[in-house]
Amino acid sequence: MANPRLKKLIEYLYPYRLTVWQGVGALLIVNLLSVWIPLLIKDAINHLKAGFNYTDIVNLAILTIVLASIVWAVRMISRLLIFGIGRRVQADLKQRIFEHVSNLDGAYFSTTTVGDLINRSTSDVENIMRLMGFSLLSIFNIIFAYAFTLPAMLSISLRLTVLALAIYPVMLITVQLFSGRLREEQVEVQEKLSDLSELIQEDMSGITLIKIYAQEENERQAFAKLNAQVFDANLRLAQSRNTVFPIIQGLASISLLVLLWQGSKAITSGEIQVGDFLTMIIYAQNLIFPTALLGFTITAFQRGEVSIDRVESIIAAKSQIFDTSHSIDSGKVVGKITAQNLSFTYQGAEQPALRNVNFVINPGERIAIVGPIGSGKSTLVNCIPRLLNVKAGQLFVDNTDVTALTLESLRRSITFVPQESFLFSTTIANNIRYGDPLADDIQVVTAAKQSQIHPEVMNFPRQYETLVGERGITLSGGQRQRTSIARALLVDAQILILDDALSSVDNQTAATILQNLAAGTQRKTVLFVSHQLSAAALADRILVMDKGEIVQTGSHSELINQPGLYQWLWSQNQLEEMLS
Ligand SMILES: Nc1ncnc2c1ncn2[C@@H]1O[C@H](COP(=O)(O)OP(=O)(O)OP(=O)(O)O)[C@@H](O)[C@H]1O
Ligand SMILES: [Mg+2]
Repeated sequence: MANPRLKKLIEYLYPYRLTVWQGVGALLIVNLLSVWIPLLIKDAINHLKAGFNYTDIVNLAILTIVLASIVWAVRMISRLLIFGIGRRVQADLKQRIFEHVSNLDGAYFSTTTVGDLINRSTSDVENIMRLMGFSLLSIFNIIFAYAFTLPAMLSISLRLTVLALAIYPVMLITVQLFSGRLREEQVEVQEKLSDLSELIQEDMSGITLIKIYAQEENERQAFAKLNAQVFDANLRLAQSRNTVFPIIQGLASISLLVLLWQGSKAITSGEIQVGDFLTMIIYAQNLIFPTALLGFTITAFQRGEVSIDRVESIIAAKSQIFDTSHSIDSGKVVGKITAQNLSFTYQGAEQPALRNVNFVINPGERIAIVGPIGSGKSTLVNCIPRLLNVKAGQLFVDNTDVTALTLESLRRSITFVPQESFLFSTTIANNIRYGDPLADDIQVVTAAKQSQIHPEVMNFPRQYETLVGERGITLSGGQRQRTSIARALLVDAQILILDDALSSVDNQTAATILQNLAAGTQRKTVLFVSHQLSAAALADRILVMDKGEIVQTGSHSELINQPGLYQWLWSQNQLEEMLS
């Protein structure tokens, strides 16, 4: 096994080293007793020939039963201990992956699919669990079993030992071959299953589209095809599984036959006694199970190794946006935002999405950002809470470089309503208090009133306790947006950013919401990206963006009288409103 993986294994096991030793100790006891008990039986039987002593026999029988019970109990304990370690390592790894992934930035998620992440934190972690539990147990078990049983067998008869065990290598190879095949078939089943669930998920999400384009029959056929593949893969797996165990049993029987045949001859010739012969049979039987398991163990090991690499590569991924030891807490900010030659280029993009953007936004100002699609509005606002990896010296909050602030304090100072509103599958109230889970009902209702969603919520049968389905399917687009805004308003942050968060709301409601944002004791700095110029017109100042640059700045009345992009956008807007 490659060294770094072994190091990882030890690292995973380290917190549970005491339990590992306890488990291994238990296995040691089990194996020692398993060798000793047959010796007692041997003595008993060999004694029978000398003369029949009833008490001796009874005593021996009782001792054997007691010892066998102890073996059984200790074996149980060893399994509980060692399999428990596997489960704990599994839980630890899942926790570590989740914590790590939740700290990674957006750039990581644009190169990794969610399906892959889920797969690694379930299937791969399970493989590692098996390696830690099953393989660990099996390896120590086989080492102890052979270390104690083999000398005991050899002390009885070298010839019979060799004959009894001659078939074991064949058994090992057979199991190894099958276990490779079983593994491939298992992977195939899993892959087909995930194809099938992907199809189901996609079809259910796109059910309206399927109906509109009348593609039910096609989708049915696609499903039938995949379903048949899953069935075939499962069948093959079941066939292999049902073949391998009878083969092991068959090989074990051959070993037994050889032993019976040669053993009886050895007894007749006086080479060994009956008791020795019986002991020999018990020992040979004791070795079957560990030997057969070794084949599976090797495969589990190989799988586990691959999985360790796959899991560790997630944990090795580094966020590009992180705190340093020099990061400082922003404290409570007043809400001034300054950009100095702010430029930004997405990874792999040829053109910068922002070029030399300059502005100073004063505390309490309401700023609208307008511009054609793809002009860089979202990119600009995403830079402020450092959702994107902004370079040092380009963006400042209260005159402090955002890259010098701790992420936690920077993001505490800013609430952000993204362009795509996302709601969790919980109640409306819980969605609104997401940023401050301890907020009371009055705070929730106040935020909902400010964002103009309150009257509609009151019309739902369960009001604020209404469950929002997956991604808020039961709410309309506009309702979702206003719930997201309520969520942002509930948090008391000095800077509020709305990225086109009013697009599904009518102009009148949008205007009311913006008016509400201005209310309150301490005016927040508000930046809102908007396609609705009538809403933008309410801002103190408007930044007009085009191709990653700010091309115009001013109030609505100033800009409307300047020849330029804003005037043109406004005339288009007026035309649209006249037509509708
Ligand atoms: N994750 C990304 N990776 C690469 N390029 C991106 C990414 N996100 C946006 N872009 C590109 O950056 C440019 C600006 O995009 P941005 O989303 O900021 O525009 P926008 O003004 O918000 O547009 P819209 O009005 O449609 O929301 C576009 O050319 C876009 O294709
Ligand atoms: Mg955008």
